[in-house]
Amino acid sequence: MSKTTTHIASSHATPTDPSTTAAQASAATVQAADAPHPFYWGAATAAYQIEGSPQADGAGRCVWDEFSHTPDAVVAGDTGDVACDHYHRWPQDVELMRELGIAAYRFSIRWPRILPDGVGPVNQKGLAFYDRLVDGLLEAGIEPFPTLFHWDLPAALQRRGGWSNRDIAEWFTEYTIAVTSVLGDRVKRWMTINEPFVVAEQGHLVGVHAPGIRNVFAACSAIHNQLRAHVAAARLIRATVPDALVGIVLHSAAAFPASASPEDLLAAEVAHQWHNYPLFGDPLVYGRYPVELERLLRPYMPDGYEDDMPGLQQRPDFLGLNYYSGYQAQHDSQRWLGFTAKPEPEMPRTAMDWIIRPDGLHSVLKRAHEDYDLPAIYVTENGAAFDDVRSGSTVEDPDRIAYLDGHIRAVLQARDEGVPVHGYFVWSLFDNFEWARGYEKRFGIVYIDFETQERIVKQSGRFYSRLAREGRAALS
Ligand code: FCB
Repeated sequence: MSKTTTHIASSHATPTDPSTTAAQASAATVQAADAPHPFYWGAATAAYQIEGSPQADGAGRCVWDEFSHTPDAVVAGDTGDVACDHYHRWPQDVELMRELGIAAYRFSIRWPRILPDGVGPVNQKGLAFYDRLVDGLLEAGIEPFPTLFHWDLPAALQRRGGWSNRDIAEWFTEYTIAVTSVLGDRVKRWMTINEPFVVAEQGHLVGVHAPGIRNVFAACSAIHNQLRAHVAAARLIRATVPDALVGIVLHSAAAFPASASPEDLLAAEVAHQWHNYPLFGDPLVYGRYPVELERLLRPYMPDGYEDDMPGLQQRPDFLGLNYYSGYQAQHDSQRWLGFTAKPEPEMPRTAMDWIIRPDGLHSVLKRAHEDYDLPAIYVTENGAAFDDVRSGSTVEDPDRIAYLDGHIRAVLQARDEGVPVHGYFVWSLFDNFEWARGYEKRFGIVYIDFETQERIVKQSGRFYSRLAREGRAALS
């Protein structure tokens, strides 16, 4: 443990009921009666955003290595070359999580550490890194929740077409089996792909994320092939890892109708289908793309995609939802999908300029449960960037505390109303490489000094630590 890390008295990190408080055993008993499932207070990160050392120990390059080294692609020319140096500092980072009382850790596995060329020979040293990490987490009493793909596609596979190539479903299963055959004895909750919508939209349509493509056909192929890859990998994990639970992690941004007019209601519905869980969830649960959206996307989808649909119907064991923001959708005939976000200058925003709408998280959770009735939902990411200022060994971030407090209340309300939310993962454990925004946007509950690699628990980290220990009683 670094001497600069703020120490917090340790207690054992086990999943707790969200309303459990040490002081109120009776409240806990009441809650336990109608909440049989555990609730994990977790923290989330992603490999490229924190690990650094992208080529260490025989690892291959990923699309983000190439993209971040492209002039003007990322703010200030930042790259993930060093990031939080988690590749070397992971024991200290696991210890910090244990001290904070975090019960579950959502991290991702860098595909080209395992298969440097995306397919072919396995790099044992790369696998050994995650093997040690999983052991370290379990020893610290922290449940590992790995994501197989959080955007770091092997560059060698991008040269073969990446997500536009149908073969990627087989490539992804080859990678998956390499990982699960080693970690599957200890890891039981698997997340396949993080936010396939963002990969398709930001990476293949708008081009502001790797691989920097701007092509609607490529975007629609990326949608369809990520679904195929998820289904193939999920099938394989279920068949080979005893007791495995497999889910997918989907982007959410609550879309409220800007008015009650039929045009705005339709705009909000299409926005919901595009930005939220239906784009990937409806094929998995119902074997078809969401109806209004498919009408608009059909001309750009890969030939013969309809033939795949029956095989894509495979209910996930759980749904992971990432939620940050909400907005009002209004009709706009000039836009490709017929909607635009209404300007709302009066609304509170984070440093990303994202509108703060905790009620949107409540409504997305309720709706996902009504639509799919899955056994479990996890809030796999939620958090906010603010312009944090370090003062000595203190970072006061009241805006982030207020943001987390409001959103966690929304989660617990949905849970009280019967939505089977089994956990909440704050984004993020650390300030990190925020993709095209580089290091300028800080999302962590732990501050990183990127010059010295000091870790400083922010006030929000202390707040979150109390939540992880005391549950609901820690809310304001
Ligand atoms: C999500 C990403 C995550 C992080 C947050 C702020 O879309 O999954 O890696 O960048 O946004």
